[in-house]
Amino acid sequence: MKSVLKFNTLSRGIKGYRGLSGNDCKDFIVLGVETSCDDTGVGVVTSSGAILADSRHSQLAWHQKTGGVNPKVAGKLHREYLGSVMETALRDAGIKMKDVYAVAATVGPGLALSLEAGMDFTKKLVAKENKPFIPVHHMEAHALTACITHPVSFPFLVLLASGGHCILTVCEGPGKFLRLGECRDDAPGEAFDKIARALRLHTHPLVSDLSGGRAIEVLAKFGNPEKFPFPRAMSQRLDCMFSFSGIKTHTMRVITSQEANDPTGPHSPVLQCEDISAASLAAISRHLVTRTQRAILYCIEKWPTLNHLVVSGGVASNLYLRKKLEELASYYGYHFSCPEPSLCTDNGVMIAWAGIEHIKAGLPLMKDLSTLKFIPKWRLGKDISNVVADERIKVKVAAGQGCF
Ligand code: KG4
Ligand code: ZN
Repeated sequence: MKSVLKFNTLSRGIKGYRGLSGNDCKDFIVLGVETSCDDTGVGVVTSSGAILADSRHSQLAWHQKTGGVNPKVAGKLHREYLGSVMETALRDAGIKMKDVYAVAATVGPGLALSLEAGMDFTKKLVAKENKPFIPVHHMEAHALTACITHPVSFPFLVLLASGGHCILTVCEGPGKFLRLGECRDDAPGEAFDKIARALRLHTHPLVSDLSGGRAIEVLAKFGNPEKFPFPRAMSQRLDCMFSFSGIKTHTMRVITSQEANDPTGPHSPVLQCEDISAASLAAISRHLVTRTQRAILYCIEKWPTLNHLVVSGGVASNLYLRKKLEELASYYGYHFSCPEPSLCTDNGVMIAWAGIEHIKAGLPLMKDLSTLKFIPKWRLGKDISNVVADERIKVKVAAGQGCF
């Protein structure tokens, strides 16, 4: 992949691993390894934000056969493909390992067997090449990705929506997060994936090879969201917490009633899958937007200097949702940044960039990885959701804005 920003010089002469900033900070290269779920990714990025390589291997086709991510298969495939994904990354970047200043990898959260595969690979690489290491929180990496290509300064409000998480958080800097709210049950991507499976979208010729969320986005364009009315999720709770299980259950009920008079059978998509896709996408987006609106109102009160909404994670590649959130941000005079869709889904670039942000902030790097363990369950930052809920902020439907 060609660089998106100016690529300066390599990291010759950088001494020590701490406190690189301002003029002391010559351009340097970090290699990032991502294996938290079912995408194997290796990215090569320079400290000035040039993406030199974004090499990936998706396991989607394997897991689709079994109707969901199989952790054992995921771990095995990561081990099988990591070597070639890294070779491709170095070749695309036109560099050798000696040009890499440091290696970053996802340590958590994620599937244990997937994380373990990445850790084993990275530990060997770091020991062989004698490189410093930066342990990366997967969701922090999603949050910081926007800073590669957009002028985003700290602090900013960020909505992270993916297959495993949904978090509203204020990012005050690398490693400094305050969680305003998060998911109580299914994450939005998980809800999309389950709905897509129930709609049998893997049998739909137009979307059979896409992730659940992307398949629903594509089909929703042909559907009418009004055909199947959905109740609003958690409308009585004046906090920034999320729950998608009600929307998922409601969709499942609609699908079951469709199936009752469905002559097509199990090898075709459910009747009116376009309308059901459009209705569930609208309902999930509305819930995400309403909670984000409350978070903005909280931030306006508590962080007068904060005026930037960042949105990231796999679900943020959804153009319908992005448009709604952009409208929301602009209504409150907030800047809006969202990584390009391909950088919203899991990749190695975001891990490399999180490593770069840590180095620039002077956070410690590791040399000895013998005691390093992967962390399948790892919360991001400090929980202030109760403080936010205590404010009981009412969210009004803004004039002219149908969605929120
Ligand atoms: O961030 P991600 O790549 O992996 C996790 O960290 O979970 O997110 C994957 C999730 C999947 O559930 C997938 O269905 C969803 O993101 N996704 C989308 C879209 N593309 C991927 N959801 C809605 N619209 C999309 N276009
Ligand atoms: Zn992710």
